[in-house]
Amino acid sequence: MIDTHSHINMLETITPDEALQNAAANGIEKIIVPAANPADFTGIIELINKYNNVYGMLGVHPSDAKDWNDNIIEDIKKLAENKKIIAIGEIGLDYYWDKSYNNLQKEVFIKQIKLANELNLPIDVHDREAHKDTFDILKEYNKCSKVVMHCFSGSVEFAKECIKEGWYLGIGGVVTFKNAVKMKEVVQAVPLEHILLETDAPYLTPVPHRGKENQPAYVKFVAEEIAKLKQINIDKVIEVTNDNSNTIFKI
Ligand code: NI
Repeated sequence: MIDTHSHINMLETITPDEALQNAAANGIEKIIVPAANPADFTGIIELINKYNNVYGMLGVHPSDAKDWNDNIIEDIKKLAENKKIIAIGEIGLDYYWDKSYNNLQKEVFIKQIKLANELNLPIDVHDREAHKDTFDILKEYNKCSKVVMHCFSGSVEFAKECIKEGWYLGIGGVVTFKNAVKMKEVVQAVPLEHILLETDAPYLTPVPHRGKENQPAYVKFVAEEIAKLKQINIDKVIEVTNDNSNTIFKI
């Protein structure tokens, strides 16, 4: 299994070493660490240089759009010379917490889409309560990057629209929640060929560990739930989602 979105640089109850040991013991072979803020970049480079099976993304999260400056473009270009930087992320729009700087969020999102296109890297998208704007901006500005809708939270209809564009959906711990009816429907409705496994650790811990800190090892509970919902063998879920990760991230 591959945990395609895991902030192991933000874990508080275990070290990255422990997280990777637990992951390996549970069949998780590779982990991709997204950036949220420019302050994360150095730590991510250290992690990918230290661990063979850890890969990184660089980008500025919409909630941190106020920390953006155009010099970051050059910083990312330089750091992305490291071949283990395999995507731009997480970038996008978040209208949940604070709507007061939506326009700045859009501007920062668009600049990073263009950067991903220039570097020929995939885009890992954070979209929270901003489905329409996120979709429209990607349609208008993304020319050539593969797109992952990380921690997908839309409806079945929106999922289908995304898939029509050739995008992928990152599915995490929310799908294991009993009341996450919409997410379960999405997983049943979309082909496995468009699904990626992720934890978004340390957040969104799946059942049966809900309430505790999330970690990459728990991505197996997401795979199990997808297998159950689609009534297929978990080995099939692992095989196809691994293939998807390889197609997108070339890892
Ligand atoms: Ni995240």
